[in-house]
This record gives sequence, C-alpha cells and structure tokens, in this order.
Amino acid sequence: MSTAIAAPETLPGISPGIYSAQDFAAVSEIAHREAGIVLAEGKAMLVYSRLAPLVRDSGCATFGSYILRIREDAAERNRAIMALTTNHTFFYREAHHFAHFAETVRPGMIARLARGEKARLWSAGSSSGEETWSLLMTLLGPDRAAGERIAHGDVRLLGSDIAAHALRKAEAARYRAEDLKPVPEALTRAWAAPLPGSDDMEIAPTVRAMARFRTLNLLGQWPMQGKFDVIFCRNVMIYFDNPTKERLVARFADALVPGGWLYVGHSERVTGQALQTLTSAGPTIYRRSEA
Ligand SMILES: C[S@@+](CC[C@H](N)C(=O)[O-])C[C@H]1O[C@@H](n2cnc3c(N)ncnc32)[C@H](O)[C@@H]1O
Repeated sequence: MSTAIAAPETLPGISPGIYSAQDFAAVSEIAHREAGIVLAEGKAMLVYSRLAPLVRDSGCATFGSYILRIREDAAERNRAIMALTTNHTFFYREAHHFAHFAETVRPGMIARLARGEKARLWSAGSSSGEETWSLLMTLLGPDRAAGERIAHGDVRLLGSDIAAHALRKAEAARYRAEDLKPVPEALTRAWAAPLPGSDDMEIAPTVRAMARFRTLNLLGQWPMQGKFDVIFCRNVMIYFDNPTKERLVARFADALVPGGWLYVGHSERVTGQALQTLTSAGPTIYRRSEA
C-alpha cells in the first residue's frame, strides 16, 4: 500500500507530523556515520525531496517511522544513503588533470606496460562513469592502433561508488552525444561511436573491457589487494568533514605504489598524516614518495 507524503507546508515548508527537524537531524547522523556525508543545516528540504519517494514506497506514513525502519533494515538504509548522494559529473571535468596525466604519467605507464608490467587505476567515487572513460580514453590516446596495443597490456581501471544506480549507468557506457563534447574530438573519434537510430554515443568495447565497476563505501573495508598507480578521487570529499577526509587521504596514500599519483577535486586538499608520503605536484595533484 502506498501512503501519500504531504508536501511540507510550514517553516521552509516543514509539516512536523510528516517530517520534522529531529527527523532531519536523525537522517544527517545516519548519513554521516554510514557514508561520511555531512548534511548541513540548509539541506533539510533536499533530504525531504530525496527521501519522500522512499518513505512513500516503504509504506511508512511519516519520516519518523521510516527512520525507525532504516535503523533496523540495512538494505533500506543503503537505499536511503544512495538517494542522498549527489552524482553530478561530466566528461573531462577539470581538464587540467587529464592534460597532466597525458603529459606526465602516461608515457611512463605505456613504457611499463610495453615491458609487461601492470598498471592499475582507480576512479574512487566514479559516479556514472564520465571520469572513468575520460581517463581511459586519455591513456589510450588518439591513435587507435597504438591505443589497442596499450589496452592489450596488463592495465585495468576500477570504478567504484557507493551509489549502485550511478554504476549501472557507468557500466552501460552510453551517453548523449552532447555529453561527450568536452572530450578532445580525436579521442571521441577513436573511442566512442554513435548508436544507430539515437542521439547517443557508446564507449568502444576496447575501453569498456579495461574497466570494472564495483559498489564500495570509501569509509568501509577495501577488498582490493594490489596497489594503484593512479587514484582519481574528485568531488567526493567535499561532502565529508575534515577528520573523515584526512583518514581517507591517508588510506589513499597507502593504496598507491611508490611514485603513484592522487588527483583530488578543485576545492579539495590533502592535509594531515598523508602529507608524510604525498607531496604536491601541481594544483590538486599529489605524488607518493618513491621510498
Ligand atoms: C559529485 S560525484 C563526483 C563524480 C566524479 N568523481 C567527478 O568528479 O565528476 C560524488 C560521488 O561520490 C560518491 N560518494 C559519496 N560518498 C561516498 C562514499 N562514502 N563512498 C563511496 N562513494 C561515495 C557519490 O555517490 C557520488 O557519485
């Protein structure tokens, strides 16, 4: 049975019977504890609009009873957390990172692959895949034959996110043609193709075969065994508080090979313990010491 959730009417529109300030505080506490996400005071209406459909679908008449439900039911709690994530992303976001990767990281990585060594990349908080594909297309470069040789090496990219719905879009690897506009044209020509009968483009099978997508809460256990040559974690930590950010970047530093690279979002910085092993190598780019 579905129960209608009335639109909030008072305050900035909050009807206490349905959704109260205490409910918002309880959701904030759960989002912070489970996923590190900080929901500032002004986000009460955002929480209302993101969770109201779930409250309704669950059959709960109020946010209060829904909160009791998610305290007990891990799967529903997970759905609520996913609904609270912001998955906005786009191709070639912060293009200077891809330029840096192409000029500084790519040549050595290609040489190591040619020698039979492996390369591992991680797009942590990949959302719907635009960052993942931008990075892999940059690695393969505009020459398709040369790119195929690179792709035949021992190279893999992990795309991870807490939001399973975003990863499904990443795995589908289909985007509107206009979404690919920020990508250098030579790369789009080499590694994406129009889908007949639609305005969509599909990422080439060679590129798709290099990526694996996994649901992963960055605050939880990381099942990955090996270390990474490159980690992109951009516009994810903006939702976290400082202690959470510092713990996370220290874990990223540990997860990098000596000499590996960490790219963070334009408003993010590495601080704390991680600075013992990471040094700044350009705006929002860090390198792990060789030792
Ligand atoms: C704004 S998107 C950024 C996407 C991409 N990295 C970019 O820069 O365009 C932030 C992503 O971080 C994910 N996220 C938030 N908290 C997370 C957590 N605790 N663990 C894993 N992913 C998380 C969200 O689901 C969302 O898809």
